[in-house]
Amino acid sequence: MHPVDDLRKLREVLGSFATGVTVISCLDAQGEPVGFTANSFSSVSLDPPLVLFSLSKTAQSLSAFLHTSSFAVNVLREDQRALSERFADSSADKWSSVSWETWETGCPILRDALASFECAFRYTVDGGDHVIFVGEVERMDRREGARPLVYFASRYRRLDSDAEG
Ligand SMILES: Cc1cc2nc3c(=O)[nH]c(=O)nc-3n(C[C@H](O)[C@H](O)[C@H](O)COP(=O)(O)O)c2cc1C
Repeated sequence: MHPVDDLRKLREVLGSFATGVTVISCLDAQGEPVGFTANSFSSVSLDPPLVLFSLSKTAQSLSAFLHTSSFAVNVLREDQRALSERFADSSADKWSSVSWETWETGCPILRDALASFECAFRYTVDGGDHVIFVGEVERMDRREGARPLVYFASRYRRLDSDAEG
């Protein structure tokens, strides 16, 4: 048993929770695409269809997300690790040579993602050193047959078998 003030241990134990990996995107006030890698994405409610993610208060993209009325969530495929790394790097030229399209709101939808959701921003909740964003899904799409990029214990993984039963 470890005390929670051991931050390194806290990150390690939290990392026991395996997640998918997403790139969450919006447009900034100048209409430029903005995005970052997130594994804090979660479904919240089916009726209404709410989802959430949390964004660090120190992220460069925070201001754009605080001012947008919509955002998109792109669930990455297992062969999109390089995209995850690029969108986790504040200094990267994130959008060069990335293939994306727009649906109704203009938020970037990555063409090859496993799934994408276009969401209307609903509200934020203070989340300590993060801000929790809640949105309502308005449109979605899924590429059949693709497999997810998985993140577990601070490393990228692949599913080693398909779920059965
Ligand atoms: C797998 C993975 C998941 C991440 N999840 C989150 C997250 O949920 N929220 C967050 O604020 N940062 C998360 N990050 C870190 C951000 O992607 C990173 O800080 C990014 O540089 C923020 O971009 P920006 O500063 O350009 O806004 C994650 C990084 C990785 C590699």
